[in-house]
Amino acid sequence: MVNLGVSIGELKLKNPVIAASGTFGFGREMEKYYDLSNIGGISSKGLTIKPRLGNDVPRVAECDAGMLNSVGLQNPGIEYFIEHELPHMLSYGCVVIANIAGHQFEEYADMAKLLDKTDVDAIELNLSCPNVSSGCMAFGSDASMIRAVTESVKTVTNKPVWVKLTPNVTSVSEMALAAQDGGADAVSLINTLLGMVIDIETRRPVLKNNAGGYSGPGVKPVAVRMVNEVFNSVDIPVIGMGGIMNAADALEFMIAGACAVQVGTANLVIPTACNDIVISMEEWAQNHEVEEISSLTGCLRRW
Ligand code: SIN
Repeated sequence: MVNLGVSIGELKLKNPVIAASGTFGFGREMEKYYDLSNIGGISSKGLTIKPRLGNDVPRVAECDAGMLNSVGLQNPGIEYFIEHELPHMLSYGCVVIANIAGHQFEEYADMAKLLDKTDVDAIELNLSCPNVSSGCMAFGSDASMIRAVTESVKTVTNKPVWVKLTPNVTSVSEMALAAQDGGADAVSLINTLLGMVIDIETRRPVLKNNAGGYSGPGVKPVAVRMVNEVFNSVDIPVIGMGGIMNAADALEFMIAGACAVQVGTANLVIPTACNDIVISMEEWAQNHEVEEISSLTGCLRRW
């Protein structure tokens, strides 16, 4: 028997596989494919104070080894989420994380205050969406802002607070340390890499917004390196993501230092990806006589 259970600080998950924000909605579209209680958790689509329609189309583009998106945080707003989506998400039987995205500094704490009154299991601060004109990645590429936003949220909630980091910085470990200094309970990384695709016939960017966030298998080596660097820099748990398509990819992140993983773009290709990864991870652990999956975290051997 393999114990797939993991802890992210105080929060316990039945297994390390979390559906990443923005690739799973609020679960409704995915619940018909498998029993969502099989996975460790779901991080909601990025939520804002007010509802948003998102950016103009085209806002997704396929490219080598992945895709670009510039969705622009389309969502129904935090109040609608709390009233109409969160109760249903909580019925799935896995951990539920609210991913929140602010345009102004105060909006993170304002949303966290509302979430504090709910049964949501954790709050993930989106300091990394590259597709909006203010807040998010603009805050997340400035260490002092990361620290200040995190502190402001920690003063209004006792829920675990995770900070989702952008790879579009010079030093991701500096940003992770800032989150830790601000009181973050965990960091999750990486969000998307800023990229661009050009249609050579029209000579225009494929995305209306010109640039967008690159995700999918192509980003995985970058993400694994960043997870390992951050794991070696901070004392708080690290949640790894970036191009995870199968159990082997997920295990790579755990060996690099992740205590749990988030699976994103794979959900758009194979709707059952998270469930498939849990099953294959258990098989791998059995075949390799690993009794506790959590024992893999940070077990990287040095040359
Ligand atoms: C988006 O909605 O533009 C993507 C969200 C994100 O990158 O966090």
